[in-house]
Amino acid sequence: MYVLGIETSCDETSASVVKDGRRVLSNSICSSLSFHKKYGGVIPEIASRMQLETIAQVAQVALKDSALPLKKINLIAVTNSPGLPGSLLVGIAFAKSLSLAAGVPLVAVDHVLAHIYANFLDNSQVKLPFVALVVSGGHTSLFYVKDFSRIETLGETQDDACGEAFDKVAKILGLGYPGGPIIEKLAKSGDCKKFKFRCSGTQNPLDFSFSGIKTAVLYAVKGRQLSLKEKKDIAASFQESAVGALIDKSILACKKKKAVSLVVGGGVAANNRLRVRFIEEAGGAGIKCYFPPKPLCMDNAAMVAGLGYQLFKKGLRSDLTLTLE
Ligand code: KG4
Ligand code: ZN
Repeated sequence: MYVLGIETSCDETSASVVKDGRRVLSNSICSSLSFHKKYGGVIPEIASRMQLETIAQVAQVALKDSALPLKKINLIAVTNSPGLPGSLLVGIAFAKSLSLAAGVPLVAVDHVLAHIYANFLDNSQVKLPFVALVVSGGHTSLFYVKDFSRIETLGETQDDACGEAFDKVAKILGLGYPGGPIIEKLAKSGDCKKFKFRCSGTQNPLDFSFSGIKTAVLYAVKGRQLSLKEKKDIAASFQESAVGALIDKSILACKKKKAVSLVVGGGVAANNRLRVRFIEEAGGAGIKCYFPPKPLCMDNAAMVAGLGYQLFKKGLRSDLTLTLE
């Protein structure tokens, strides 16, 4: 079965063709990131306008790269939540039009859960059930996944998302956007013990809080002219503490659920230091960790097509009344 996925929840416009929920035949992505950089964050109005201009061409490229004509597509899967409303509406309207014009069924997909599914593309090693951590620019959540239509939320951030904290710390340090890759690069040659940054506690131990640590960085920096060495030390100290909180809570979730598999997804899952520490520390607790290939950690339509296939097989369908959730 061939599924065409459509993803427009943030600054990317993406379309992808995936076979049987596993094999990525094409994954076309057009990002408006360069237009947002000078503002230090995504400007919703710019994102949705760019998506409106590019979506048809991005879908055409996905079909061309897959070497399949539209009439061979059996299902259209589209992200309808969560995300920027204007951006989501562009993808939803396009997917509905295509579904109507081509007479192909439609299924709606949750973007956060699709980040988990990125681990299943071109990989059949992960077995259900498992604990999943989604760690992106908009979300930091722990889930228990029995199957793809029965997902229990175990915890989520009470304030900033982890990726958002990386972005804000980079901004505080006067660096560019998005901050995650920049902080990771700086942290490599920094001393992670130099600054004592801590993530705040939460009432539910499986929830997260990253706003306190971001403010701690702000106070450490305030009114000072930082040397490059100091910036590196701050980046390393922040990263180590943020990753530590992600690991501790993920291991706790696995223990609570007696899970031996931990699946990680979302943009921050591209971080090498995070990957190394997760494998070491969760591995030490008898838990096997899985990560998507790095390009599939970021927003993409392949993960939407893949999860859409699984939901369709479970009997889920959407119709032309589909809108934002
Ligand atoms: O999943 P994603 O592409 O979009 C959302 O759904 O939010 O994640 C983007 C986020 C940004 O906050 C970005 O700074 C962060 O992922 N990120 C990273 C790294 N690469 C991207 N954070 C830490 N280390 C990285 N290497
Ligand atoms: Zn995302």
